[in-house]
Amino acid sequence: MTDSTLKSLSRMTYEERLAYIGRELSMTPDEIIETLRSSFETIQLAEALIEGAIGYFSMPMGFLKDLKLNEKNYIVPMAIEETSIVAGVNKIAKWVREKGKLESRLIEEKRGLIGQIQIPRIVNLENFQKTVEGRKQAWIDLANKGPAKSMVLRGGGVQDIELRLINREDNSVMGVLHIFVDVCDAMGANIINQVSEFLKPIIIEETDETLHLCILSNLNDHKRVRVTLTMEDFDECLGRRIEEASYFAEYDPYRAVTHNKGIMNGIDAVLIATGNDFRAVEAGLHAYAALQGRYKPLSTWRYAEGTLTGVLEAPLNLGIVGGVTSIHPTAGLALKLLKVEDAEELMQVVGAVGLIQNLAALRALCSEGIVSGHMRLHLKNILMTIDATESEQKELEQRLLKILLEKKYVSRSNALDELQKLRA
Ligand code: MEV
Repeated sequence: MTDSTLKSLSRMTYEERLAYIGRELSMTPDEIIETLRSSFETIQLAEALIEGAIGYFSMPMGFLKDLKLNEKNYIVPMAIEETSIVAGVNKIAKWVREKGKLESRLIEEKRGLIGQIQIPRIVNLENFQKTVEGRKQAWIDLANKGPAKSMVLRGGGVQDIELRLINREDNSVMGVLHIFVDVCDAMGANIINQVSEFLKPIIIEETDETLHLCILSNLNDHKRVRVTLTMEDFDECLGRRIEEASYFAEYDPYRAVTHNKGIMNGIDAVLIATGNDFRAVEAGLHAYAALQGRYKPLSTWRYAEGTLTGVLEAPLNLGIVGGVTSIHPTAGLALKLLKVEDAEELMQVVGAVGLIQNLAALRALCSEGIVSGHMRLHLKNILMTIDATESEQKELEQRLLKILLEKKYVSRSNALDELQKLRA
């Protein structure tokens, strides 16, 4: 038997893929299949997660076979339905391993994630500011003895309270209290909302102001992941084209959004596999991309003297404990496979996958174009919609591939035409 660790993912059989991850998980292939299947045989998990459940919506889960980041190797689970994503990221990760260096770090300008409390119109601004300054430590202490106690025991808890002032059109002032809560390795939404709601009546009592909304913010731009990829001896023509593609996204928001969609292809796939709240991360990333007043790409690429450098910087607040990560068996298996020590390590892995996925798209767009690779893989999807036997499907795949190579496009009607010809 050949050693599957040396094979590219595209050449591995299903059994080899299971054996490959089984070695990492210390599980047999049967145990993996059982874990992935077991909880979906009954409705219990769905009912624990949502009201009105009628079943499950399943998605394919694959993996990035060998990501090398900060000199450490990762197998990264990815749940996604789009044909070329897992294939593309594996191909580029291999190239990066051979020719490049992928590094990441966290930039933390302030500790904790934000809970917001709105004061729609501050009546006595001077008094309110004074009270917040004088009392904020007492409020922090109260929250840390109350709803944030479990976080304090884990080394986190409420860290700070800041007041932001926003001028309204009618010349009144809206106040926003930002409660910074260190949620350790959790996603933290529940604890942040609990802390904010706990503090609201206390602050009303002590300030005599009207307080309104209490909710976490999904924009935590003070805590970002920075991933840098350098590729030495890089082909000059391709390098310059990728740089030009980057300028396109930097100057034009219509392109920036699609550039970022390519990044999100990788990021969301890992978030879904690990049970993280991908809507929260998406919203935060797009807000961050538009923070300077114009929507920008989350990554930029430059080519100089034989080296291609890509940099991605983005707030990626993720969790590895609590919520879906703990109760969903697939998410549990995915996290076990990743072997990250804490949420901050997961944030860096996810950022790296986003940058590599971005390079996969740019490399294709700057060379043969996106269609041929994508459509080649998409042929199987087209064939699934055609009522043909297994041997007809095989023949049709070859014929459609030929049409694709000749004409540069192919569709379901080609498949139907070819099936008719084949049967005639
Ligand atoms: C498709 O899912 C993603 C791309 O559109 C990304 C890009 O244009 O950079 C190919």
